Amino acid sequence: MTHIPVLLHEVLEVLDVKPGDVVVDGTLGSGGHAREVIARIAPGGVFVGVDRDSNAIRSFKNSEHTVATTILQANYGQLPEIMETHHLPQADALLLDLGFSSDQLTAGSFAGRGFSFQGNEPLIMTYDDQTEPLFEQLRGLSEKNLISILSELGEETFAPRIAKSIVVRVRKNQMQTTGDLVAAVLEVVPDRYKHGSINPATRTFQALRIYVNKELEHLKSLIANLSRVVRVGGRVGIISFHSLEDRIVKQAFKELSEGSAHLITKKPITANEEELRRNPRSRSAKLRAIIL
Ligand SMILES: C[S@@+](CC[C@H](N)C(=O)[O-])C[C@H]1O[C@@H](n2cnc3c(N)ncnc32)[C@H](O)[C@@H]1O
Repeated sequence: MTHIPVLLHEVLEVLDVKPGDVVVDGTLGSGGHAREVIARIAPGGVFVGVDRDSNAIRSFKNSEHTVATTILQANYGQLPEIMETHHLPQADALLLDLGFSSDQLTAGSFAGRGFSFQGNEPLIMTYDDQTEPLFEQLRGLSEKNLISILSELGEETFAPRIAKSIVVRVRKNQMQTTGDLVAAVLEVVPDRYKHGSINPATRTFQALRIYVNKELEHLKSLIANLSRVVRVGGRVGIISFHSLEDRIVKQAFKELSEGSAHLITKKPITANEEELRRNPRSRSAKLRAIIL
């Protein structure tokens, strides 16, 4: 499955990028948004793209670009330092499109990190090779820790029993693959949960992915330092895919708008009917934007 950029038209509209602009994409992925942004900031624009995934960086670097680009494998949480050490001008616009890309689930060299509960892959679940893989991190987690991770980051109703099941398997050295994690969930959840509209392992995978990658921490850290990346009057657009992320963005933008910033989106922008039909991934996407 090739990644289709979500809310593309809406992102371009709220970021309002123009020739000569400096634009930062903190979650480059397959470059779907980036390519359209670059086409609009030429001539004379400056594009900065980062992603934690070296595969994303490699393929984007290998393509042709019409503007000056700085493409780095990095965590967007480090963008304030990156802008300074690379002597980059403050941005006119910043985009974050959170989470993982469809390419990281299925497409060739991007896959294999264990993001998906379909198939059987090593239980790595990190976006980069610098972060300790999930199967190793699990060895250091108590049942109590796991219960709070699953209930807070996955809003999982059956957190206590799933946590116990995971701990038992980790002790027996049976927690190496995504198949092992799915089995740990299926062994303990009630039958009715298995016939619901979502896969019973969905929330467990989401919670553990957010936990190992410290996703909420990085998001909060960048939001707290936006003024080191984006100029006054510059625009920030953030697409989130679940309520925990959206809550952080909503709250932070509200606080900024109580100062001198101006909210572009009072309510989050969601996908229209046509996009929902074309790209099921857009179902949970919410775009919020602000002018600093
Ligand atoms: C939804 S995809 C972005 C897709 C992209 N906008 C496109 O149109 O192709 C999210 C990307 O963010 C990356 N990512 C997740 N957390 C990150 C972080 N803290 N810093 C940098 N990249 C991150 C993932 O590796 C993934 O490639």
